[in-house]
Amino acid sequence: MSQDYSVVNFDKLTCAGNLASLDSVASNPHYTFIKSDICDPVAVEMTMAGCQTVVHFAAESHVDRSIYDPAPMIETNATGTFVLLQIARKLNIEKFAHLSTDEVYGDMEPGTFAGEYSLPQPSSPYSASKASSDLIVRPYVRTFGLPAIITRASNNYGPFQFPEKFLPLTIASALDDKPLPIYGDGKQERNWLHVQDHCRGIFAVLERGRIGEVYNIGGADVVENLTMARRLLRATGKPQSLISHVADRPGHDRRYALNCEKIQRELGWKPTISLDDGLRQTIEWHRSYTKWLTEVRGGHYRTYYQKYYENRGSSLHAITESGRKPTSYLAQAIPQPRKATTYSPRTIVLFLCGKNAPRKPQAARTIRHRQRRLLHRSLGDQIPAAITRLRRNPRFVFQQRRSHESGSPACQLGARFHAELAQ
Ligand code: TYD
Repeated sequence: MSQDYSVVNFDKLTCAGNLASLDSVASNPHYTFIKSDICDPVAVEMTMAGCQTVVHFAAESHVDRSIYDPAPMIETNATGTFVLLQIARKLNIEKFAHLSTDEVYGDMEPGTFAGEYSLPQPSSPYSASKASSDLIVRPYVRTFGLPAIITRASNNYGPFQFPEKFLPLTIASALDDKPLPIYGDGKQERNWLHVQDHCRGIFAVLERGRIGEVYNIGGADVVENLTMARRLLRATGKPQSLISHVADRPGHDRRYALNCEKIQRELGWKPTISLDDGLRQTIEWHRSYTKWLTEVRGGHYRTYYQKYYENRGSSLHAITESGRKPTSYLAQAIPQPRKATTYSPRTIVLFLCGKNAPRKPQAARTIRHRQRRLLHRSLGDQIPAAITRLRRNPRFVFQQRRSHESGSPACQLGARFHAELAQ
């Protein structure tokens, strides 16, 4: 770092987030932690106010999870990015770094490398949500003049990585003498980047990157998964027989590889940690942080592992089986027809929304849900207008609630909204 910074860390602490990973900085006077959600504009505004630079790392980032349940990806990665951009624009943030991924370029032809102008061709709900967020950033630069830059990094590895991703999962499995699950034939290629090299790349972009540009940040090595697993087994002194081929991931991209000439040429960045050194260091880290690993591999992770590794066949079958009802709330919101409708051939279904949609009576619950959404969008100064809109709605039913007791800014705002509505 060429100068001192204060850092505010804003994190929802979903499955991959863990406060124990931040022990070493927790008591630093220049560090603050806020647990909240980037989809909550009130919390985002309260936090971002007074900051000059935003580094948007926040994402639901696991491809497998996006296949099992796409909704949180779209919500956090696309809507959450939109919320951050809106607030950054409102607060005149001086620099906004949007961290994206090589996965937006989709499956690369053998031997080819994606440049910054390669087309986004995402294959999974995760990469589609990241490609969407990249596209949402662009107009904020061009139309609204927000000083934003996009980075696209390759597969990261290093300490404190949640063991649902390939490297930490295989290292932890090898150290426990458990099978290393290799999806399909294991010939898929990934471009490995040590997390410290990635962070140096982000700093280079923040300090010297050109506004509105995209910078690829990739590692020096593109390695097949099977080769990587064999290398890890050699490095940990475990037998090659631990390699276990399991059912492939649906839609699995064969190759990710980045062309990083631009960031090298313009900003002088290139990776400094060789894959051999990085892997040795990461394995050592896993050997010393057994308590951390045991803790993160309990609870929800255990259930996840049982479902998608120990019972992989039936779990994947349930996902790919046609007509299966998705699990998430977005899908549950879709009313199921009472009896199957038989359409004549060539029937076109029109999905109408907004002002032209046919109105159907809605439950008060939906209205309350809307009230909450309106509240979140209204951000203080828009409360009166929001209340007027709500009162005009003939189906709006106000229900008096217990007053908010927490002193947090978001709750104060909620209490103000509630009090004005009750008048
Ligand atoms: P992952 O770490 O999930 O990253 P991404 O899918 O974003 O590249 O997976 C890296 C590669 O390793 C990918 O080709 C899928 C494969 N893989 C396995 O073979 N077994 C596993 O248990 C996991 C998690 C991944």
